[in-house]
Formats: sequence, structure tokens, C-alpha cells
Amino acid sequence: MDNKIFASLKSIGAYAPKKILSNKDLESMVDTSDEWIVQRTGIKERRIASDDELTSDLGVMASKLAIKRAGLKTRDIDAVICATLTPDFLCMPATACIIASKLGIKNILAFDVSAACSGFIYILYLAKSLIESGVHKNILIVGAEKLSSVLDYTDRGTCILFGDGAGAAIVGVTTDKREAILDIQISADGDYAHLLMTPRSRATHPKDEKTLEYLQMAGNEVFKVAVKTLTSDVIEILNKNNIKSSQVNHFIPHQANLRIINAVREKLDFPIEKTVLTVHKYGNTSAASIPMAINEAYEDNKIKKGDLLLLDAFGGGFTWGSSLIYFGGE
Ligand code: UT7
Repeated sequence: MDNKIFASLKSIGAYAPKKILSNKDLESMVDTSDEWIVQRTGIKERRIASDDELTSDLGVMASKLAIKRAGLKTRDIDAVICATLTPDFLCMPATACIIASKLGIKNILAFDVSAACSGFIYILYLAKSLIESGVHKNILIVGAEKLSSVLDYTDRGTCILFGDGAGAAIVGVTTDKREAILDIQISADGDYAHLLMTPRSRATHPKDEKTLEYLQMAGNEVFKVAVKTLTSDVIEILNKNNIKSSQVNHFIPHQANLRIINAVREKLDFPIEKTVLTVHKYGNTSAASIPMAINEAYEDNKIKKGDLLLLDAFGGGFTWGSSLIYFGGE
């Protein structure tokens, strides 16, 4: 008998803060218009966390749902990994440690990963490796962001794009390949670091201007590399696994800009009905974007056990990654 174990995406959960920031609201803050934002990005509104709601709090809300939907108790979790570019604290303690503590989980592996908008694919990759090594059984992975805390609400090039939110999932064990994470590929190229950055470290840049306290992005340049990389990445993972785009049930790309999603979708011939879209209601939530989108489709009863999901992400670093997953949740 073949006893090989595989990692499986057992459940999904998400949380979006209550407060809505609409394009109309932004019209009174910067020189922009609802029409421009919708036309150039597809975004209509985004969520903003309250002052006392931290990245870890958003992550905890999403995690509770994911743990419940996996039929687990917090004591069953043996690792917590959080992807975020807006941690509660700069470097330490890790937001994963705070999330674990707020959930009452102790004495287990907990750490953060910094891979910007590709963060969820990166932590999925790590969880898959840890599960398939046989050491871990149930890993909680969380993509959580309070991007409003690093945005300059006088910069129309960035403040219209991003929002706050969190998504979480349980990666567990299966022996059935039809409910396994089939493949993940991740990559990075630091030569592009300067095109998308959060504030620099005071240790290395003590004299930085106030403007560098906020997220900086060369939007148009990021856009071009994003379309090219997201497209080639998807082609590569499909070819590598001998899977045609028509076999994919749900294409779940990073939700940065509807024009980027459509460019990739059209190149790959994915119909819009097979593409999960949340960009209009949440904007770009970075590491939370993909799990929030999976959750949306799950809550709409679109995703069933065994469905083939194709994830595709791109972000600061630059980092990128894709994954083919047979959904393992109920
Ligand atoms: O998640 C990580 C990856 N991030 C992304 O993938 C984001 C990628 N970038 C983008 O989504 C787009 O580049 C933006 C939405 C940020 C900008 O759209 P664009 O079509 O690339 O616009 P642009 O930067 O080329 O600017 C075109 C014009 C400029 O005016 P002029 O010079 O033609 O007069 C901008 O000043 O649009 C102007 N503009 C705006 N106008 C109204 C830029 N932002 C705004 C705005 N409202 N918010």
C-alpha cells in the first residue's frame, strides 16, 4: 500500500474590517474621481481597520473561521505562519506569535514571512514542505494586512489601491492526491526592490525624509512587470503539471488591478466566470488578497472539495508565485 502523505488545503477563512472607504470618499481627499479609479483599477471600495484593530486582530478573526471549518480545536494546531508587510511590530515580536497568543496557542513554531503580495503563496509553500516532511500535522497560515497604516492619503497613486483585511487557512495531511496541493512555485528578483517599498529601516536610513514613512510605488512600471510575470508564471506551472487551463475550476489571481487580472486571464483563455474577483470591494490587500478571494468563492458555494484551484501572485521584492491545488476542505 502506498502510504505517501500530501499537504492539503483543508479550510479557508477571512475577515474584512467594517469601515468602507469608497471612491467617492477618496474624491474629497485627493485629486481623483470614482470614474478614473473604476476605469484604471476596477476598485469601487476598500475596507479600513479601526485605530485599535491591528493586523494580528484581523488575522485572528480569519483564523477562527479557518480552524472551525477544518473541524479542529486550537490545541490541534502545531505551527502558525503569518505573511504580512504591515506587522504589529517592526520585526519583533512576529505577528504570528501575537496571533497564536490571542488564539491561546502556545509552545509551537510561529514566525512571519515578508514576501509582500506573494506572501500567501510563500507560506503555503512552507506549510506544504513542513507537512510533507512528516513533522507537522495542522498548520495555520495567515495573510493579514493593515495597509492603511503605511499609506500616504495625499498620494493618489497609492492610496486609492490598497485596503485592509485578512485570510487564513489550515494546511493539513491527506493520502488522497485528489485533495492535495499539487504544486507550488515561488520566486523573487531583488533588482526590482526600488519600485515598491514600505518605509525604510531607521537603522540603515536615519536621515530619511517624512515622505519615506509611507509605501512608495512606481505604479506604471510595476504594472508592466506584473502582467508579464503573472502570465509566464501561470503558463509555466500549467505546462509543468501537464494541465490545460480548461481543466482549472477556479482561477484565483492576486487582486491588485482588474486590468492586470484581465490581461492574464485573456492570455490564458480563462473565462471571467472561472475567475474569482474581489478587487472591486476590497482593493489590493496584499498577502490577504488571495485567501480573501478563496474565501469569497467558498462562501458563495462556488468551491467544492476536489475542485482544481490555480493561484497566481505578484508583489514587492519583486516576489511572485503560483500554485495548483485540489481543494481539500468540506
Ligand atoms: O500588488 C502589488 C503590485 N501592485 C500592482 O500591481 C499595482 C500596479 N499598478 C497599477 O495598478 C497602475 O499602474 C495604477 C492604478 C497605480 C496607475 O494606473 P496607470 O494606468 O498605470 O496610470 P499612470 O501611473 O500611467 O498615470 C496615468 C495618469 C497620470 O496623469 P498624466 O501624467 O497622464 O496627466 C497620473 O498622474 O493618471 C494620473 N493618475 C490619476 N488620476 C486620477 C494617477 N493616479 C490617479 C488617480 N486619479 N488616483
